[in-house]
Amino acid sequence: MNISFNRSFLTGKEAHYIYEAVYAHKLCGNGDFTKKCQQFFEEKYGFKKAVMTTSGTDALEMAAILCDVKPGDEVIVPSYTFVSSALAFVRQGARIIFADSCENNPNIDPDKIEALITDKTKVIVPVHYAGVACDMDKIMEIANRHNILVVEDAAQAIDSYYKGKPLGGIGHLGCFSFHETKNVTAGGEGGLLVVNDERFIRRAEIIWEKGTNRAEFFRGMVNKYGWVDTGSSFLPSEINSAFLWAQLECLDTIQTRRKAIWNMYFEGLKELAAKGCFILPDIPEYATNNGHMFYIVCRSLVERTRLIGLLKENEIYAAFHYLSLHLSDYYREHHVGEIPNLPNCDRFADCLVRLPMYFELKEEEVLKVIECIKSYYQIL
Ligand SMILES: Cc1ncc(COP(=O)(O)O)c(C=O)c1O
Repeated sequence: MNISFNRSFLTGKEAHYIYEAVYAHKLCGNGDFTKKCQQFFEEKYGFKKAVMTTSGTDALEMAAILCDVKPGDEVIVPSYTFVSSALAFVRQGARIIFADSCENNPNIDPDKIEALITDKTKVIVPVHYAGVACDMDKIMEIANRHNILVVEDAAQAIDSYYKGKPLGGIGHLGCFSFHETKNVTAGGEGGLLVVNDERFIRRAEIIWEKGTNRAEFFRGMVNKYGWVDTGSSFLPSEINSAFLWAQLECLDTIQTRRKAIWNMYFEGLKELAAKGCFILPDIPEYATNNGHMFYIVCRSLVERTRLIGLLKENEIYAAFHYLSLHLSDYYREHHVGEIPNLPNCDRFADCLVRLPMYFELKEEEVLKVIECIKSYYQIL
């Protein structure tokens, strides 16, 4: 029994909708499937404006442009995250100020943000790791008090909530990813920018369409369209949106199954966690779990390396996750000033391991993973 780490789920309708898009002879961006997907997010989650992008990275790049980030501006980002959370702002010339994670989970520690704020701070980027909410009330309060914008990196956080509010819909802007590894995919790559602050809606449409006011032209608001701002080609092809539409139609089924797998792991491993062998995911009472990822945090790098090795010997593929961005080659080479000391981030980088998690993972496979982990801790 070979258990992969991740496997994207097909609902069965993807090829059908792609076929529809192909034979409608409307394959470029902003067609019917793109509009359907955007409307889905606006209606289900009450997002003011949702704009499909070619990736989560592109959604973050659009957000960085919309925030008008300029050389010298500072942007606060957790160090335990994917490169794009920082890179999108670096491309605008920002200086990244890395923040540490919480002690109990990899999300940015809100109590450490204020000390990092200067008169150059323009944006804070909370990343909802594993789809579990950061403490957004605290973050928004700090941001509003200092007149700073908040861009939620909700790449992993579809259908997850903070005190009943959908993630991605709380900050001024929110960014989702539909990469193959996410709960739903737009055929391998895709993303979504959510605009919650109305001030950014008009400009978002322009930046999305290569700096032109094409959207206004198609709505009949101007009689010709032209170059009015900066931008890029951020909109995906209809093929990607058609694929995503098939997945969104089954979102509730997908979420139910993923959460059931997550719960199976949690129940099966809680005895070992109670003995102190490792730490299970922490879901604060203000947050929900969207079944994006199941991880455990081992006691040391050595223990984690051996565990991943043992799982692999048993044909189970588990994976560590981010390396601390503040210790990356790129940051060290480009950062002026001291490299910060971020111990919680470094601990997650060394000790966190993600277990197989995907829709089609069978109950006996989850049990095999649990048994293998149990056998490892019995022989230690
Ligand atoms: C936290 C986070 N931010 C941003 C991204 C970038 O998304 P994409 O791969 O769609 O560009 C990812 C993707 O894995 C991510 O996990």
